[in-house]
Amino acid sequence: MGLKAVSSAIISFSLLLWLASTAKAQSNGVFDVTKYGGKEDITEALTNAWKDACASTNPSKVLIPSGTYSLRQVTLAGPCKAAIELQVDGILKAPVDPDQFSGGHWVDFSHVDQLTLSGSGTFDGQGNVAWSKSTCSKDKNCEGFPMNIRFDFVTNGLVRDITTRDSKNFHVNVLGCKNLTFQHFTVSAPAESINTDGIHIGRSTGIYIIDTNIGTGDDCISVGDGTEELHVTGVTCGPGHGISVGSLGRYPDEKPVSGIFVKNCTISNTANGAPSKVKISDVSFKNIRGTSATPVVVKLACSSGIPCDKVELADINLAYSGSEGPAKSQCSNVKPVISGIMSASGC
Ligand SMILES: *[C@@H]1O[C@H](CO)[C@@H](O)[C@H](O)[C@H]1NC(C)=O
Ligand SMILES: *[C@@H]1O[C@H](CO)[C@@H](O)[C@H](O)[C@H]1NC(C)=O
Repeated sequence: MGLKAVSSAIISFSLLLWLASTAKAQSNGVFDVTKYGGKEDITEALTNAWKDACASTNPSKVLIPSGTYSLRQVTLAGPCKAAIELQVDGILKAPVDPDQFSGGHWVDFSHVDQLTLSGSGTFDGQGNVAWSKSTCSKDKNCEGFPMNIRFDFVTNGLVRDITTRDSKNFHVNVLGCKNLTFQHFTVSAPAESINTDGIHIGRSTGIYIIDTNIGTGDDCISVGDGTEELHVTGVTCGPGHGISVGSLGRYPDEKPVSGIFVKNCTISNTANGAPSKVKISDVSFKNIRGTSATPVVVKLACSSGIPCDKVELADINLAYSGSEGPAKSQCSNVKPVISGIMSASGC
């Protein structure tokens, strides 16, 4: 009986323990973070629960039950072996100090197919301190604070019911995604918050934003380069700077934007529009109502020499709430096809 026997005994003992703990942590495909030791700070528990769920060959769900938790920066990465859901019923609080992050995000879903993010919970970015330090209202190349949620290369996904609050930067960034739906989603931040775009989309195809409520300090939805087939339906935007399409051409190699369909939306307090520097085609705004605090309620600004065509406005009923005359629309380098109600003359 030598050293060898002793060490093999230890190995089998620890293996048994590991089996026992996995069996306890998941039941019927549900991986509950509180069974992974998640109490106040759930960063490690969520990371471990995600890893186990992602390795499951059957559809799985990671559950964050109701309660209030701290969560540090995390990346929830795929590819996973089967469909995976993260159900957040709790309130997740980000670290207040923006210096505790690297890489521009708080929570990042990366390379996941068949992802569902669901639940009555909230991602609270606690952005107040960061906004007070932000130089972004003066400097377009300002330091990027972390965004609440990034979806990078997510395919066939659904985000349902979740709330994102007070992000330090954009609330949601969608990059390289295909077939991703946001439904009954809520974005909430004060009108004074800096650079807090609701949902920013770039280089993605087949994005659906449905019955969603966005109130924030910057664009409710901003559509960046390489976006194709974006459907925005039943969205309420306000406070916020409306829905912006195009790109300022800050980066090399930007791709055209095409197939943007905005329908049945309510917008209040719009203010928008530096000219887009990418090619834009097939954009329609239909059945848009609401009020604006500035007299220019519709602003379509394209750059001269860059194609900007097949733009359609139908049933635009936006009122100006101030006293500088009637609501107006402004179009530069674009001739939209207008039909139905058009409450703002000019274009
Ligand atoms: C898009 O994703 C949803 C949700 O996963 C899925 O149900 C649907 O089949 C996908 N659509 C296509 C065309 O793949
Ligand atoms: C338009 O959107 C509102 C929500 O803002 C919804 O209640 C209504 O059913 C939608 N109408 C149509 C025709 O889709």
